[in-house]
Amino acid sequence: MSDAQAAGSSIHIVEVGPRDGLQNEKRIIPASDKIALIDRLSATGLRHIEATSFVSPRWIPQLADAAEVFSGIRKMPGVSYPVLVPNEQGYARARAVGAGEIAVFAAASEAFSQRNINASISESMARIAPVIQQAKADGVRVRGYVSTVLGCPYQGTVAVADVVRVASLLHTLGCYEISLGDTIGVGTPNQARAMLAAVAQDVPMAALAVHFHDTRGQALANILACLEQGVRTIDASVAGTGGCPYAHGASGNVATEDVLYMLHGMGFATGVDLDALAVTGRWLSALLGRENGSKVGRALAGRAEGR
Ligand code: HMG
Ligand code: MG
Repeated sequence: MSDAQAAGSSIHIVEVGPRDGLQNEKRIIPASDKIALIDRLSATGLRHIEATSFVSPRWIPQLADAAEVFSGIRKMPGVSYPVLVPNEQGYARARAVGAGEIAVFAAASEAFSQRNINASISESMARIAPVIQQAKADGVRVRGYVSTVLGCPYQGTVAVADVVRVASLLHTLGCYEISLGDTIGVGTPNQARAMLAAVAQDVPMAALAVHFHDTRGQALANILACLEQGVRTIDASVAGTGGCPYAHGASGNVATEDVLYMLHGMGFATGVDLDALAVTGRWLSALLGRENGSKVGRALAGRAEGR
């Protein structure tokens, strides 16, 4: 793809740091810090920030404070703050604090579905369907995730046909967008391209997003392959935080700073201020007491310090 082809096109970034980024942290992060993170992200030009998760606190103790966090954030006009919801109980909790957009999730791998949500794929769909139906009746937008689209930590290979089936079902049920997740970061560009092309035969490309974890350093290459296929929505996590506690070996999501650097360098517009985001990535890394997972974030820090 040439810079000229990219120029003028815009890419929508879905920031998943506060949810996917923090759900795997061992040390409990105070709600006030999560709120500060989201408020900082809101000021960078991001338009979509996944704020938290109303899953079972027994399963994800780190996000047990979902209601407090969601209630505490400053909701910027024009910014959407979706929250993850696994079932009707989660939906009721999300609605009680006024969530206006939710994200539901299912897997393309049976084995992962069992480990992550204690249900088969078809059971999970039966659980999600009434949630989507209720959300639509309430005027709440629903995004859908398909996990393990390029491989599973428990069963290994995942058939592309299974990814297509689950993505297509979520779309038919009423999800306005389906995010395709390489949960454990095993995919490579040709696989990513083929998977996306297969799904796009059933779900319009404009309703698809990609969600890469950078476990093996393949995320940007995979994103580029998917951009060339026509995808225009990308999930990413500030400072490359993240992972799923039920996906052994899953490391951070692709860093938002790295994605922005690549996109802006190619001539795509995102509306996000990379420098401001990098400052927040540095702040978050210090807060978590870990090295910044964004290469671009580290390089910009070096520049700021005159290195
Ligand atoms: P379960 O244990 O089979 O369900 O969990 P249950 O209905 O028997 O409930 C067990 C207990 O949890 C009960 O409490 C329920 O009330 C409670 P008890 O009576 O024992 O005291 N409970 C809840 N409490 C609060 N909110 C709720 C809720 N639901 C039940 N919503 C369940 C089934 C789905 C709930 C559980 O397995 C779960 O929450 N799993 C979530 C796991 C998770 O969050 N994984 C990470 C997100 S997915 C991901 O990261 C991938 C993604 O990023 C894309 C990618 O990278 O591929 C999206
Ligand atoms: Mg993820």
